[in-house]
Amino acid sequence: MSLLTTHGLEVFYGDFQALFGVDVAVEEGETVAIIGANGAGKSSFMNALSGLAPTRRDAILLAGEAVGGTPAYDMVKLGIALVPEGRRLFPSLTVEENLLMGSSGRTVERGWTLPVVYDFFPVLRERRRQLAPTLSGGQQQLVAIGRALMANPRILLCDEISLGLSPAMVQTVYQALAAIKARGTTILIVEQDLRAALAAADRIYCFMEGRVSLAGRPAELSRDAIQAAYFGTAR
Ligand SMILES: Nc1ncnc2c1ncn2[C@@H]1O[C@H](COP(=O)(O)OP(=O)(O)OP(=O)(O)O)[C@@H](O)[C@H]1O
Ligand SMILES: [Mg+2]
Repeated sequence: MSLLTTHGLEVFYGDFQALFGVDVAVEEGETVAIIGANGAGKSSFMNALSGLAPTRRDAILLAGEAVGGTPAYDMVKLGIALVPEGRRLFPSLTVEENLLMGSSGRTVERGWTLPVVYDFFPVLRERRRQLAPTLSGGQQQLVAIGRALMANPRILLCDEISLGLSPAMVQTVYQALAAIKARGTTILIVEQDLRAALAAADRIYCFMEGRVSLAGRPAELSRDAIQAAYFGTAR
């Protein structure tokens, strides 16, 4: 059984429909990337999975259980944690306080605890008493990832975590994702940097105008097929 599947997933904002029947499957332990142009619906998909955008209950199955439309706070408890687009750290809180916000609602101290996150990202231990906005953009991204890990997710959702980072920092973030995957966490990323997505993911889905336009393993997808699925035209 897949860990996470969506079935005919639709997302509406009032009268506006952002997703039209999206079917995606994520296996336990996989890293899956969602790619696509601006406005394709990638964040809407992540928001539906994390309970921030309403959906039909049976449109999202987690380990076979229908969880669509579960409020975000409860979705985290079920094991789906989001690193949101733009990080959304709490600016008046320190690094450590931001990390601890991610663990509210968890009942047992195991897996990703504060010491484990600090061992993973030593720079955050050094800066744990600093206010979040005083960190560099890349360091803030590590805080956002650490905060999501503090919920001990079964699936970590990452929306555009490399946006605006230097090439060196992008590498750091992706090395972190590889290590998180090696610990057994399933990862779903949204990534506009095609090269980063193809390098990091076991499988990709391309979205275009609210629909899946292509799916497969990076090695099996031609450049032309990806271009066509991404931009709607072959070049
Ligand atoms: N809260 C909202 N209210 C109304 N429309 C929205 C809302 N959020 C997103 N949309 C619309 O839904 C469509 C998909 O947006 P979404 O943010 O999911 O795209 P995206 O693929 O994440 O784009 P980007 O790469 O720019 O982040 C867009 O047309 C957008 O304008
Ligand atoms: Mg987006």
